[in-house]
Amino acid sequence: MQFRDLQKQYEVLKDEINAALMSVAASANFISGPQVKELERALAEYVGVKHCITCANGTDAITIAMRTWGVGKGDAVFVPDFTFFSSGECPADEGGTPIYVDVDQRTYNIDPMKLEEAVKKIIAEGKYKAKAVVAVDLFGLPADYPEIKAICKKYDLLLLEDGAQGFGGNINGKKACSFGDISTTSFFPAKPLGCYGDGGAIFTDNDEWADLIRSICVHGKDTCNPNDPNAKYNNVRLGKNSRLDTLQAAILLPKFKAFVDYELAEVNKVASWYTEGLKDIDLVLPEVRKGFYSSWAQYTIQLPDRVNRKELQAKLKALGIPSMVYYAKPMHCQSAFAGTDSAIADCPVTEQHCAKVLSLPLDPYKTKRDIDFVVDEIKKAL
Ligand SMILES: Cc1ncc(COP(=O)(O)O)c(C=O)c1O
Repeated sequence: MQFRDLQKQYEVLKDEINAALMSVAASANFISGPQVKELERALAEYVGVKHCITCANGTDAITIAMRTWGVGKGDAVFVPDFTFFSSGECPADEGGTPIYVDVDQRTYNIDPMKLEEAVKKIIAEGKYKAKAVVAVDLFGLPADYPEIKAICKKYDLLLLEDGAQGFGGNINGKKACSFGDISTTSFFPAKPLGCYGDGGAIFTDNDEWADLIRSICVHGKDTCNPNDPNAKYNNVRLGKNSRLDTLQAAILLPKFKAFVDYELAEVNKVASWYTEGLKDIDLVLPEVRKGFYSSWAQYTIQLPDRVNRKELQAKLKALGIPSMVYYAKPMHCQSAFAGTDSAIADCPVTEQHCAKVLSLPLDPYKTKRDIDFVVDEIKKAL
């Protein structure tokens, strides 16, 4: 069994994907081909925002958002302690100081109460300007945006939705990647909507920021004169080389259709088989609260104290069941932040998660038999 079976997905979508690849090869329009614009239009429409700007990966997407807002030295950016490194790496890379905030026991997402406490503390201390929040849709579940947005409004903070894992989720029908002042996602192959390499996208309703983002993505080119053929070589700011290849856009178009048509519903069904199968044993299961819909980037359980995670993983592996630990280290404990104010955090829930979580094999193509097998073996092992 594969942890996330991308080969199975390719088998199903082979004809469309092969045709897409060949058409790009035949056109030789490898950079900024028409498929990129077509994808951006389709994604913006699906998410329900005005602008979608694709870029090279989900990490660049966050960095570019931070640069758009001018995050830099002296700015505090509030980030969940339990996330992938990029969420905090990017604000720090721009010169800001990530302030790590603890997460919710059951949803794994930033705890709004702890967020407000952290914001108040930073404001009271006066060393940093409280500038922005990076909220992460961890494992596919949108963060608690109704609460987070209220806090952002109260303290005048910019909100970035890091939807790298969250594309396809929603809260009462409002789609993930539409909650932030700027929102970002990743098309890393294992993500809910993945391409065949690196890729990312940035979403916003703000016209001015969208122009800036387009400029930063291409070496700070002049976006004010779109009809000037030389504008690309008129560099009005420092930017990056961060574009989504035409090939990746062409692959994403049929994958996006499959994602919307059935994959999202299927992966929800597969997750519900885990929830049903595992509910009667002493595991903590992921919680999707009323009104929330997850795109299930991961199905992540919490093991009881009596279980040795390494031993359980080895047992499962011997039976052909892969499992992963996302994440083993709190952000504030990462060596990259040692000696900085980002290393100072009070995040006991994250610390507990890091010791106890285990992510199980999951994708839209898993069968009931696959999941029954994993569930039975976990039950036996426990
Ligand atoms: C929460 C989160 N943010 C950002 C990223 C970065 O995305 P990418 O790998 O496309 O740079 C990831 C990727 O794993 C992620 O999980």
